[in-house]
Amino acid sequence: MLLVDLDPQAHLTLSLGIEPDSLRRTVGDSLLGSGTLTGISRETPVLGLDIAPANRELALIDKLLYSRPGYEQQLRRQLQAIPAASYDLILLDCSPAMNTLTLNAITAADLLLIPAQAEYYAARSLRQVVRLVALVRRKTNPTLDFRFLVTMYDRRNKVSRLLLAQMQRDLQPRLFETVIGIDTKLRESPAFAQPITQYAPKTRAAQQYRALAKELMTYVRQKSARPARGAVLRAG
Ligand SMILES: Nc1ncnc2c1ncn2[C@@H]1O[C@H](COP(=O)(O)OP(=O)(O)OP(=O)(O)O)[C@@H](O)[C@H]1O
Ligand SMILES: [Mg+2]
Repeated sequence: MLLVDLDPQAHLTLSLGIEPDSLRRTVGDSLLGSGTLTGISRETPVLGLDIAPANRELALIDKLLYSRPGYEQQLRRQLQAIPAASYDLILLDCSPAMNTLTLNAITAADLLLIPAQAEYYAARSLRQVVRLVALVRRKTNPTLDFRFLVTMYDRRNKVSRLLLAQMQRDLQPRLFETVIGIDTKLRESPAFAQPITQYAPKTRAAQQYRALAKELMTYVRQKSARPARGAVLRAG
């Protein structure tokens, strides 16, 4: 699997133990056309997981791209150059901002994954994301599909339980069955540069993320395109 960090905060890059400020080449170089995605990607300490890393310069590249005609197609073009056998899945990690980087990601994606919390105000941001998908389908990516993921769920809280039930009713069939609960282990694992499945493999959070990965791979196998491309964009 290849991870592409499209967030200038570079939290994904950091969470794999890579120091963003030390990078000579980032995903920004490939977006500007001065490098290929394969060229700027590197292996991570996690077996089978590569990353196209980011750093703060991405914020500048976001602005530079904007003046280029067809800028929203840049990432899609770069991804098409990756040999089909290299990866099963490519995950494009977006910041919550609706900038040129995020637009590149959802233009290039087969599936938009939308993590959302079971909170009172979340319904509004979910509607905004659905409108965004409709717009992107019209303008740059007619076949874009999307799925919601409930995360940071607090099962001891009555309102959360009610809102989860409501989401399960309203968001079918576009809701992942797996729900990710609140777990402090998920707060710790990035600091140790490990995925939860290595940092605390027996915890409920690790089981939930494994179940999510299974669901996602079932989805991927049903689609013909290889590698499958998922963009992760938080709602609100
Ligand atoms: N289910 C959870 N339970 C507890 N803490 C969580 C959970 N999910 C994520 N966190 C913590 O919340 C923070 C942000 O999580 P994450 O990186 O998944 O979200 P994000 O929206 O991409 O935020 P960021 O702006 O940091 O990239 C991290 O410190 C993470 O460890
Ligand atoms: Mg993030």
